[in-house]
Parts: sequence; structure tokens; C-alpha cells
Amino acid sequence: MELTLTRPDDWHLHVRDSDALTTVVAHTARQFARAIIMPNLQPPVTKTAQALAYRERILAAVPEGLQFTPLMTLYLTDQTTADDIVEAKNSNRVQAVKLYPAGATTNSAAGVTDISNTWAALESMQQQGMPLLVHAEVTDPDIDVFDREKVFIERHLQPLIQRFPQLKVVLEHVTTREGIEFVSSAPDTVAATITAHHLLLNRNAMFRGGLQPHSYCLPVLKRESHREALLAAATSGSRKFFLGTDSAPHARERKESSCGCAGIYTAHAALELYAQAFEDAGALQQLEDFASHFGADFYGLPRNTDKVMLVKKDWQVPDSYPLAGSTLVPLLAGETLHWQLQP
Ligand code: DOR
Ligand code: ZN
Repeated sequence: MELTLTRPDDWHLHVRDSDALTTVVAHTARQFARAIIMPNLQPPVTKTAQALAYRERILAAVPEGLQFTPLMTLYLTDQTTADDIVEAKNSNRVQAVKLYPAGATTNSAAGVTDISNTWAALESMQQQGMPLLVHAEVTDPDIDVFDREKVFIERHLQPLIQRFPQLKVVLEHVTTREGIEFVSSAPDTVAATITAHHLLLNRNAMFRGGLQPHSYCLPVLKRESHREALLAAATSGSRKFFLGTDSAPHARERKESSCGCAGIYTAHAALELYAQAFEDAGALQQLEDFASHFGADFYGLPRNTDKVMLVKKDWQVPDSYPLAGSTLVPLLAGETLHWQLQP
């Protein structure tokens, strides 16, 4: 069996920097035409000049013969000004701005401490048509880790979209039924990305036979009923839900550690993983809209015109890939995948 799709885009991706780019950019560029590049480097990408320099480093890592366009983002801080937004917009290279609540996840220490500190920047983004990409989790230690998304939506996201009704907002890597319901009932300015790992796994994966650091990410995997809600949304044909892998490479020793960091790597087989999830749901015919159409439409960018082909064929995911002097353990390492992208 074969499946031909318009070449997809990844609307949420971490590629890191320096030597790591060689492995991870090659994996993404093999499949995707474009990707929204997350700005959570150390130091974070807070200014347009940094984003433009980072873009050049990514382009230098694209293998010969492949076409790949990184779509850059700025990292929102308490200090981001309206002028920063105008400069970003005028560059034509910065596509969106990412809000990390300070302390919510990997490299988020410089993130926003109080959303009211960002009103001027958000006002400017609303005017400029610059989307806000949100890591929607509260950091309040009194809130149960599994409720962080739901509480963020109630406390922060709902009021934010009322205050900025024209601002385009993406609830990144939505993980809960409440998140799906919020996005579904919000105006057309509000959308969400969904990862392959949140479609394929529930929280049992973190504890299968012992603690599994390679299944730990943020927002953390949720219970099965939430996974079912994500799958229903992704395969529903709603234009509000589109592909964003949140592929997040970390060296093996940073994951297999006394304090393992958050992130699941899926760029090695992203489209194949989504195809598996959609096939399991009996909804392969919805994959192209989700992976190749709805994201571009939301961002107001042209859809890609070339095609990719997936073939129903078993292949074994490697145990690891090289990563800047270390190794990287991908999702489903050593296991069999049933779809393969044709070169
Ligand atoms: O699991 C995650 N890893 N979640 C994030 O929000 C950040 C990411 C990373 O950069 O490693
Ligand atoms: Zn991310």
C-alpha cells in the first residue's frame, strides 16, 4: 500500500545549535519543506538579529540536494518591546513569537514571569498579524503536574484571547481534552499543534517496566482518555488542528540521569509516526490536511506543491543516532515501524 501526500511542514520543532544541527536538521529536511523553529537556545533567541544568524546556521546544516526552509521565532520575555515585534515582522524571516512561562520547561528560565508584562508586545503582534505560540502550562508548584495545561487555559489563555481578539494564538502541543475543547470552541484565530508522541502514547509509557526517561516530555503524557480526545481532534477534519512534532533532541546522558530532562525525539520518523497513529484510528485519509494543509493555511503561507510518498513496509528504528559527540535515543528505538517514507 502507498500513500502520496503534499509535502508536509512541521509547525513546532527544536533543532538546537552547533554540531547537533547536522543530525537533526537532516532528519527533518528529509520529510518536511518548512518548520517553525523554537527559540529556546541558551541564550534564548530574543532578537531578530539572533534569529537571522541562527537561520543561517540551520541552512548550512541542510544536506546537499534537499530544500528546507526554517521559519524563525522569537522568545518572548518580560522585556520584549513593541519595536522588537515590528523589527521581527519587517525581517520577513520571523514568523511567530513563543511564550514560555518562566520555569515551565527546558531553557525557559528567561521566559515570561507575568503575562501582563507582555501586553505591549502582544498588542503589537496583534497589529502586525504575528502569531503567538504558547507553552500552555502553569508553573505553580501547588498545581498537579497533570493539570497544568487545564489551569493555564482557565487562568491565562481564556482571558488573553478576550483581551486580544484579533491575535493569532497557537496552543502548542495540546495534551488534554480540556485543551481540545478550548481550541474547538474558540474563534478561528485560535489553533493547536499536536505531537506524534501525544497521539501514540499515554502516560503508562513513562512507567513501562520501570522509569522510562525517553518517554518524558513536557507537557507530560496524559491518561488514555486525553490521548483519545487528541486523536479525535487530529482526525476530525477541523482546520484548527495541525502537525507540530515538538521533536526535542537531548543527548542520552541528559535523559538517563538522576534528573532527566524533558523532551522526546521524533524527527527521525515524524511523518511515519503520524501515519501510524492515523492508520490505527482508521483515518489515513485525513492525514494530508493535518500534516500538509491546515498549518500553512493558519499561518497564511502557501501550501507546498511537491509530494512525498509513504509505503506500508516494516523497518526497524535504530537504537540511537549520533548527536554532537554523544548519542540520541529516538522514539520507538529498536522497534518496528510499519510505514516508511520513500527517499
Ligand atoms: O519536552 C519538552 N522539551 N518540552 C518543551 O517544552 C521543551 C522541549 C525541549 O526544548 O527540550
Ligand atoms: Zn517544544
